[in-house]
Amino acid sequence: MKNKMIEMFKNIYSDCEGVRVFFSPGRVNLIGEHTDYNGGNVFPCSLSFGTYGAIRTREDNLVRVYSENFKDLGIIEFNIENLKNEKEHDWANYLKGVLDVLDKHGYKIKNGFEMVVYGNIPNGAGLSSSASLELLMAVMMNEIHKLNIDRVELVKYCQEAENKFIGVNCGIMDQFAIGMGKEDSAILLDCNTLKYNYYPIVLKDEVIIIGNTNKRRGLGDSKYNERRSECEKALEELQTELSISSLGKLTEEEFEEHKHLIKSDIRRKRAKHAVYENRRTLKAAAELEKGNLNEFGKLMNQSHISLRDDYEVTGIELDTIVDLAWNFEGTIGARMTGAGFGGCAVFIVKAYKKDEFIDFVSKGYKEKIGYDAEFYIANIGTRTTEI
Ligand code: GLA
Repeated sequence: MKNKMIEMFKNIYSDCEGVRVFFSPGRVNLIGEHTDYNGGNVFPCSLSFGTYGAIRTREDNLVRVYSENFKDLGIIEFNIENLKNEKEHDWANYLKGVLDVLDKHGYKIKNGFEMVVYGNIPNGAGLSSSASLELLMAVMMNEIHKLNIDRVELVKYCQEAENKFIGVNCGIMDQFAIGMGKEDSAILLDCNTLKYNYYPIVLKDEVIIIGNTNKRRGLGDSKYNERRSECEKALEELQTELSISSLGKLTEEEFEEHKHLIKSDIRRKRAKHAVYENRRTLKAAAELEKGNLNEFGKLMNQSHISLRDDYEVTGIELDTIVDLAWNFEGTIGARMTGAGFGGCAVFIVKAYKKDEFIDFVSKGYKEKIGYDAEFYIANIGTRTTEI
């Protein structure tokens, strides 16, 4: 892939002297959904597919960037000392966001660069192509300009870029999974303290499959923010009697004892999901560590039900694909992954049945939804790095 990227760079900018190539993964979350911004735990892993970038520094302050995935946008140009979010700059705004945050934190980069980007994360599938691009930019700048920024700090900067420059109010999970991922491991991350542990995922007789519903998130972002504020309000209501800093601090029992403080049924359901999902995530990691994959799978299933009934972020496409998986003999666990409202589901399936599984779920999905879903075998990759 490195040579392919250098070749692409040469085609666009005519020579490739001094080019460096980096890779940044996508991510899939195994369990712990909509818990990150509620101060809870998540359990994601980085994927072997992601975003590749070839870069070369310039003497002046001009930035010229080209994406093989957005060919029709051609080479996008901007000045590294004048960073504004411009609609027509589309994907390049993620790069600008990171450069802007670095600048705001005192890293005054004066040199522009030329860059070519190519990503093999399925577009708009909720596998974090944007966070992948952000980390790519951040790690490139850190390495090339020897900024010596700690990796977790870079992860936080990328989240800040997404929140402040792009205007998407996401939690820290995606950037963390991508910036800190490790081969053949999932990360149990406490989003409140940012303490984390790697859990080896060594599947002998099973595979992780990702199913893309091919339903774009659409209204997702506004619903995402709505869920965030519902949870914030529920927390405030609980805080009238409890001294807790986030929903992630509560056990199921504590929640049940105090849930009457939440004045609306909807907010009570949202908070219930946040509390139970957080606890489920801790249980799931413990089961995995003990080698109880079947128990892990059951917790994945419960996670989906909670996201469907209490958090209400699934929708017909995700529910259909997951239902079909549940009806297949050989599925260990199935749930939606990411923000929801479309995008992807994640399945753990008996390896010898994987083709049969894909066949069964594909057919059923097409029949009910009317268009095709796509399936990928997920290999757990490494964190953002120079290759
Ligand atoms: C999106 C956000 C994450 C997280 C998930 C839901 O992927 O970017 O921060 O909130 O949704 O778990």
